[in-house]
Amino acid sequence: AGVFTYDPGFTSTASCESTITYIDGEEGILLHRGYPIDQLAGKSHYLEVCFLLLYGYLPTATELENFETTITRHTMVHEQMINFFRGFRRDAHPMAIIVGVIGAMSAFYHDSTDINDPRQREVASHRLIAKMPTIAAMAYKYTVGQPFVYPRNDLDYASNFLRMCFAVPAEEYEVNPILARAMDRIFTLHADHEQNASTSTVRLASSSGANPFACIAAGIACLWGPAHGGANQACLEMLKEIGTPDRIPEFIARAKDKEDPFRLMGFGHRVYKNHDPRATVMKQSADEVLDLLGVEDNPLLQVAKELERVALSDPYFADKKLFPNVDFYSGIILEAMGFPTSMFTPIFALSRTVGWISQWKEQLSDPAHKIGRPRQLYLGETERDYSDIENR
Ligand code: CMC
Repeated sequence: AGVFTYDPGFTSTASCESTITYIDGEEGILLHRGYPIDQLAGKSHYLEVCFLLLYGYLPTATELENFETTITRHTMVHEQMINFFRGFRRDAHPMAIIVGVIGAMSAFYHDSTDINDPRQREVASHRLIAKMPTIAAMAYKYTVGQPFVYPRNDLDYASNFLRMCFAVPAEEYEVNPILARAMDRIFTLHADHEQNASTSTVRLASSSGANPFACIAAGIACLWGPAHGGANQACLEMLKEIGTPDRIPEFIARAKDKEDPFRLMGFGHRVYKNHDPRATVMKQSADEVLDLLGVEDNPLLQVAKELERVALSDPYFADKKLFPNVDFYSGIILEAMGFPTSMFTPIFALSRTVGWISQWKEQLSDPAHKIGRPRQLYLGETERDYSDIENR
């Protein structure tokens, strides 16, 4: 038996070399290919950030236009996939549908599953980025029992997604530009986050040579958990449970009580121990959206505002460096926009798809890559002889 380093939760193990995303958790820094996240969220937009993550540099105007045209060309899903959606119960969680449908893409797009062919890898990347909004919107429409709305390719990526979710056939639907901008920011701020649990899952799945759709489906499955991408849904559910601002002290007391497993969802982060730079931008966006849509008649949003204020002024949270993370504010924005909580994690998955793909492509082009195979510290029985059942 070998001697292995034991590192539960991989808090001090680097699993790969990467040139995509840099995080300094102490300083609250997040860079994509060297560019600070606040500059990207403020000056760029999601598809340009997708190009940057995938190819490593900011595109020229022509490159960006070509990239946007390519993505737009792939937004439709194979018509036969509609049957696949219909196989689910209407009350299925959209994440369950999306994991299944993305996994099934390898059964529909045979010309983009060969990972050894760089052109097929490229087409798979474009297909996944282009079809995720369509598939997420279809999952939503299916669960609310409305007809699917097809993509409209004269719209930008975020507006198109909002329209596919909220438009109803035969009725006019105008996308509000402030909401489209806020949606685009949610996509941009979630685009990549180096070797988090779901990205590491994608890399581990890919290390066996699995096809891209299977790898991304694995990432989506991992993202679903409440300690990761499920936190935005869990956060809004917590706000609902709190119900009214006067019950906040009770929940703050529970979060501080070591005997109680309850945690303030949407607070704290494994890597950011001072502030989450994404949360700063997301908070601005949340303020803009709430100004536009108003919070007065939404008790959940009133609870959110008050909880933020109370927690930020409480020494327990200050001492442990627990502050609202990106999911606290994205949850508030999505709630204000009218998304049900079950769509919060699908929207995170949609946004993160480009990050997963960029990391997947980087791994495949690394000549040193090999199958991931962690070892363990074995604590079980030493060798012993099998005993016949009558002797036990
Ligand atoms: N509420 C109350 N106490 C908390 C919280 C919280 N949300 N988060 C951490 N703590 C306490 C925890 O009890 C521990 O206290 P002590 O040192 O006395 O035992 C201390 O803070 C450190 O916590 P930890 O669990 O060791 O920290 P971690 O780095 O393993 O966990 C986390 C990070 C994000 C899982 C955790 O903060 C958490 O569960 N937060 C709520 C869920 C959440 O919002 N997750 C989304 C993360 S951002 C999106 C993403 O990247 O996916």
